[in-house]
Amino acid sequence: MTRACAALEAGQLVGMPTETVYGLAGDATNSLAIAAIYAAKGRPRFNPLISHVSNLDAAKHLGYFAPLAEKLALAFWPGPLSLVVPRLPRSSVCDLACAGLDTIALRVPAHPLAQALLTQFGKPIGAPSANQSGRPSPTLARHVREEMGDAIAMVLDGGPCSVGLESAVIAVDGERATLLRLGGIARADLEAVAGPLLNPKDEAFAAPASPGMLLRHYAPNARLRLSADTARDGEILIGFGPNFPAGSFNLSPTGNITEAAANLFAILRLADAQNPTAIAVAPIPNWGLGEAIIERLTRASAQDSS
Ligand code: TXA
Ligand code: MG
Repeated sequence: MTRACAALEAGQLVGMPTETVYGLAGDATNSLAIAAIYAAKGRPRFNPLISHVSNLDAAKHLGYFAPLAEKLALAFWPGPLSLVVPRLPRSSVCDLACAGLDTIALRVPAHPLAQALLTQFGKPIGAPSANQSGRPSPTLARHVREEMGDAIAMVLDGGPCSVGLESAVIAVDGERATLLRLGGIARADLEAVAGPLLNPKDEAFAAPASPGMLLRHYAPNARLRLSADTARDGEILIGFGPNFPAGSFNLSPTGNITEAAANLFAILRLADAQNPTAIAVAPIPNWGLGEAIIERLTRASAQDSS
């Protein structure tokens, strides 16, 4: 446990047992650790991660709990339920872990080793299921070692997961609750507490099906101009790699794509805060997390022009 905490503190990743499935755990306040999670999973884009905390009090430092969200938390935490709630501005979780959304997914797992890790680490832990993207979720420590190899510092072996299905994910928006993902708690049990749950496809809830697009993403106010080499009049330049002027924003002066992902949302915010006519973004290579960075930038630029 001590070694696992030290690894997390150093920005490394740890295989964490929960009662649902094993998670690929990283410090949710450290965008480099979160970027390493996306890289290790081979995620095609920055899907938002669940932030794990040890109890409801800790969760309330990160997200806003309307009465309905609190009722669900009191009924099912600790346990296989994740709640998507409005993210508090003072939340310590990095933008990348929330994929730039203004909501946050929170979960209090029941597994004793997850509880021990969260309590001892004392900070929120971002953890997707510890499988390669597109592969089944791991339910044994051995699966995590097979899937993740050198990407993790260690696995805490908590035995086989008792639930074996991912957590149910419910988004609570005021007094509306939407079941985003079926999981380790039956719909009937959830509805016994929350009342009828909306379906993401319900017409009343005009949300696109893709979780990454579910709720409003952080998009800069300024227009984005992609694949730019220099800034035009009134623009701010965000560079990538060594060929950009010192003193301008740079996603990674050394050209490290994982570092670029870690810096993306924070640098976009800083650039936007200067109220430029547009933000010019350097060409980003299409390998590793580059694909996800480009997808995110393209979406932000399209959103702005519509
Ligand atoms: O059981 C579980 O939930 C496991 C263990 C490790 O906790 N974790 C897990 O994480 O399954 P992952 O990343 O594989 O799935 C998280 C789900 C995704 O479908 C994601 O889109 C959704 O939660 N999600 C996270 N944050 C969200 C947000 N702000 N809005 C909407 N959906 C969100
Ligand atoms: Mg998963």
